[in-house]
Amino acid sequence: MTNRMWGGRFAETPSEIMEEVNTSIDFDKRLFAEDIAGSKAHCKMLAATGIISADDAAEIRRGLEQVQSEIAAGEFTFSRSLEDIHMNVESRLAEIIGPTAGRLHTARSRNDQVATDLRLYVRGVIDHLDEQLKGLQRALARQAKAHADAIMPGFTHLQTAQPVTFGHHCLAYVEMLGRDRERFAGARKRVNENPLGAAALAGTSFPIDREMTSRELGFASPMRNSLDAVSARDFAIETMAAAAICAVHLSRFAEELVLWTSAQFRFIKLSDRFTTGSSIMPQKRNPDAAELVRGKAGRVIGALVTLMVMMKGLPLAYGKDMQEDKEPVFDALDTLSLTVAATTGMVEDLQPDRDALRAAADSGFATATDLADWLVRVLGLPFRAAHHVTGALVAKAEAKGVDLAGLDLGEMQAVEAGITEDVYSVLTVEASVRSRRSLGGTAPENVAAEAARWLKLLG
Ligand code: ARG
Repeated sequence: MTNRMWGGRFAETPSEIMEEVNTSIDFDKRLFAEDIAGSKAHCKMLAATGIISADDAAEIRRGLEQVQSEIAAGEFTFSRSLEDIHMNVESRLAEIIGPTAGRLHTARSRNDQVATDLRLYVRGVIDHLDEQLKGLQRALARQAKAHADAIMPGFTHLQTAQPVTFGHHCLAYVEMLGRDRERFAGARKRVNENPLGAAALAGTSFPIDREMTSRELGFASPMRNSLDAVSARDFAIETMAAAAICAVHLSRFAEELVLWTSAQFRFIKLSDRFTTGSSIMPQKRNPDAAELVRGKAGRVIGALVTLMVMMKGLPLAYGKDMQEDKEPVFDALDTLSLTVAATTGMVEDLQPDRDALRAAADSGFATATDLADWLVRVLGLPFRAAHHVTGALVAKAEAKGVDLAGLDLGEMQAVEAGITEDVYSVLTVEASVRSRRSLGGTAPENVAAEAARWLKLLG
């Protein structure tokens, strides 16, 4: 049998491999709710504009509702020979209501239909992700509030740099996630434009009302160029870009969880709920969830690259290449949603080991910068000179096997005669973090205030 939906001019059936390469129903059935919502809006508009009769519209609506409940209940038989979700729905509609079903596709094409469906789908996922990301921010801000004053080493090059607080570290991710949410919100604006009514590529000779379908589907406005409407996928690319950046952020945090749970760091503990054992090494508690969040970033970044390469160099308007947009979009958004949920779970679960954090901050001469700053502030040394003196003192302490506060005043004065007893007041990690009250700095009072500000904002 030739294809029922477009087989008019075809005498032969497609080769098996043609069907295999052409079909998208296995994955685009996920768009069924959006497809039916789009069809209902289109049908309502066709009736309102007098393009189809009110009776036909009512029939079509009833049929679409039945199709929707059959699919939702898992009672629908999808057919690969009907290619995609659009034709599977329409074909079943015809079985239910008869030839009237054929009126639904007036002034429409699968080209504007699929663009509409995907936009509706992506919009819905963005809204869900925003809630999830907000939840993750909240979990991090709560940890920040609880541990605003838990001192830990801050790193650059993964070498001890200066002491910071655990809360400050958590809030760094709250900021990143805030920007991620803004990026998604920015993408959402451009996702939320209505391509329906562009028809195949040129618009239609029927007197359609695109403002009406926009309103029905919650789109901000109709897209203003029919060629653009059916061939634009930058809305999906942009969403993938936001997703990829967000996945990169999650992977950085995940990597820190992996490091911090190791026996070498012992900065935090993850409970049995987020770790697994080894089948051979009984002592192990592996941070698998964190490793998977780290690893899955690759899929999300891959989706962005897949879409850009697929679209690159495509002439206007629609090309079947574009059917390849869906799997990466679905996979990336599923993956991101799952990894945000796993990360939120871990953040809620984790317990920082405040003693281990504090002890780690004490090693590695974390207050060397404080010493240099003291030499500048109190003795009036140029910073470069102060840096040099501090370097010499660090070398001395290292040779003696003590931290900076372990050098006695005489040993210090041998390097810089002007140093006084007062210097010891800046050599503790507590004094160091307390002094960093500059806007955005790590002082516990700053961190507590920032955590409170975020928690209020996040509601
Ligand atoms: N399944 C197709 C896609 O996802 C729908 C649009 C097909 N349009 C066409 N003229 N063959 O892109």
